[in-house]
Amino acid sequence: MGVEQSGKKFLAGSEEALPLEIKNSDGAYLYDVNDKKYIDFLSGWCVGNLGWGNSVLKKAIREYDGPAYVYPGLSYKPWEELAQLLAEISPGKLTKSFRTTGGSESVDTALQIAMAYTGRKRFLSLENSYHGNIISSLSIGSSVTADKVNNRLQGCDRVELPLNEKTLKKIETNLKKKTVAAFIMEPVICNMGVVIPEKVFMQGLEKLCRKYGTLLIMDEVATGFGRTGKLFASEHFGIEPDIMCISKAITGGYVGLGATLTTEKIEKAVRDKVEIYSTYGWHPLGVHVALANIRHLGKENILENANRLSNIFSGALSSMKFKKKVEIRIIGLAIGIEFGDSRYPEKIRRKCLEEGLLLVNQEKSIVLFPALNMDEKTAREGLAILEKCL
Ligand SMILES: Cc1ncc(COP(=O)(O)O)c(C=O)c1O
Repeated sequence: MGVEQSGKKFLAGSEEALPLEIKNSDGAYLYDVNDKKYIDFLSGWCVGNLGWGNSVLKKAIREYDGPAYVYPGLSYKPWEELAQLLAEISPGKLTKSFRTTGGSESVDTALQIAMAYTGRKRFLSLENSYHGNIISSLSIGSSVTADKVNNRLQGCDRVELPLNEKTLKKIETNLKKKTVAAFIMEPVICNMGVVIPEKVFMQGLEKLCRKYGTLLIMDEVATGFGRTGKLFASEHFGIEPDIMCISKAITGGYVGLGATLTTEKIEKAVRDKVEIYSTYGWHPLGVHVALANIRHLGKENILENANRLSNIFSGALSSMKFKKKVEIRIIGLAIGIEFGDSRYPEKIRRKCLEEGLLLVNQEKSIVLFPALNMDEKTAREGLAILEKCL
């Protein structure tokens, strides 16, 4: 019985489940309760970057022999090991990690750090962005969603796309008042159908933030750990964020874990001003898997495969016959295809699911986030299904 038939008697929430009741997952595939196989072009929205049930991660879980839990007030060597590893692989001077359980908490921590460091209260973000589902994240996300929260953070402003010179001017007008604690965005905006900023925009933004004492927060919760063909999407632009939020693919889907990274200077300044305590932040099992995951990402040629596959997706998509003119946006394996309306992408998503391919639609786009280590044959099979469903 599928989810739609079984209904949601006890589960809360208005969002209707897609008609796919999962029984299992393996590599690039999902299996429903009738053992029907689906190619997964979603990866749980940038979570399963190494495919499902990756042998390295599975082995790490199986062999884990550490404490059941560690009270956050104690010391635990693997915490320091993971923090060091993150410092080594992160862009710029991000060398200090706050421990969290997921993306929203990482964003909330980032906002707290920014307020404490600057002594300011306001935030600037992109209109229609998404940074999580808790009150602080909703306050800086899409204004439509924020307006539904009747006691949200005050002083959150947004600038609209496109990300160009004109928008930089608007940002400057806002930052000039020196009341904005931080500007926050995804470096490649997965949550808006994969919007890829230009390098000049990102570098201009960084300059403005520095000029007016506003911290630059990069939310790499979705883009982190190879999704865009580099370990972190910020690297594409040569920028050095003051704070970076990570989660999702850090454990490849096995355990909820996140982090908020910042510089030594900022951490030192806020150390006695923000109190970040997270009961399950960096659960020892999660830390063990994260260490295995990140070391594996560094050792294997996974990013190379992702960039090779990116070219295959790019070539195949640009030769597909779409009904109307589309805009294809692709960087690494973050792929968005924007159509003229929002009904057509939904139709495509439904049809693809019937044919055994999972992807999702978002506003006027469909987005694809295939596993970074997917083989070419599976990628081409998925693309053939998509083409058939257009
Ligand atoms: C960019 C971004 N930030 C934050 C979040 C929130 O993460 P979580 O659902 O782990 O709280 C998400 C989740 O999709 C996200 O994509």
